[in-house]
Amino acid sequence: MTAAQPGRDAEPAEVPRLEPNAPVVRRIAQQETPVLIVNDLSKTYADGTEALAGIDLKVRQGEIVALIGGSGCGKTTLLRLIAGLDQASRGAVQVDGETIRGPHPAVGVVFQEPRLLPWLDVAGNVGFGLADLRRAERRARVAAALERVGLAEQSHRWPRDLSGGQQQRVAIARAFVAGPRVLLLDEPFSALDAFTRKGLHEQLLDLWAEAKPTILIVTHDVGEAVTLADRVVVMRPRPGRLDETVAVEVARPRAPAAAGYEEAVRRVLAALDRSLRPVETRRDLTPEGRANWW
Ligand SMILES: Nc1ncnc2c1ncn2[C@@H]1O[C@H](COP(=O)(O)OP(=O)(O)OP(=O)(O)O)[C@@H](O)[C@H]1O
Ligand SMILES: [Mg+2]
Repeated sequence: MTAAQPGRDAEPAEVPRLEPNAPVVRRIAQQETPVLIVNDLSKTYADGTEALAGIDLKVRQGEIVALIGGSGCGKTTLLRLIAGLDQASRGAVQVDGETIRGPHPAVGVVFQEPRLLPWLDVAGNVGFGLADLRRAERRARVAAALERVGLAEQSHRWPRDLSGGQQQRVAIARAFVAGPRVLLLDEPFSALDAFTRKGLHEQLLDLWAEAKPTILIVTHDVGEAVTLADRVVVMRPRPGRLDETVAVEVARPRAPAAAGYEEAVRRVLAALDRSLRPVETRRDLTPEGRANWW
């Protein structure tokens, strides 16, 4: 496990140079090419708030990256720009080489609140974006996704009759069923109790294991970041920037008792601590960090 230098983002390995007639090398190169590229992205809101400045980030196919940082450091702004829900002031986002100019079918989003359609039942909500599919295929895909999140028996219930955790499961199933290349999650579990949250981590990873979409998840929970992510990127505020990256090299499935888990948590906490200090005072900090960053 390594922590990158402040201001630097650990990027995927260089793509190998392709020789003619080298299909194997080409296949490897395609796997290594980042699915998501964020290039010099900045956002200043109309009232002058500089929410993001010069964000550079590359995320590989199937990689899970957690974004963590103090309140107001631009995490939601970054996700909204990647999702095409807002316009950047400068810079660009590409998914599979295509520039994002608005909401895109290759990019799925799960918000903190489930945002289900109250006039559709659970199956209707999950299948909402699949109108182009034939009925039988749509039903099969919806049923498989609901099975994965433990809601196979609830498919005809109404959103208002579900618990918060169940509603968020529906939102996650809805996001996965569309087969996104990039899935963005903005504090999807923060309103849930610790027990429900743990179950949802497992279900999220189960769903991810099928098609391995690239995932960018915002969280305030260091344990959640270390449980889920291959890389934890710490942001710093005013203006929002990427600060340090902590690579999490802990075997999956992960649990707090796993080798390297506690150390990863300590490193993320220390990086968070540094992210809240002016750059010039960082030298004085202990490498252990303190847990009072939020
Ligand atoms: N529509 C807006 N107009 C003006 N300023 C905004 C707008 N949306 C967000 N901001 C500001 O931009 C900055 C970044 O906000 P953002 O919501 O991206 O932060 P965040 O990291 O997601 O915070 P939190 O952890 O509290 O969710 C904040 O200073 C916020 O007040
Ligand atoms: Mg936010």
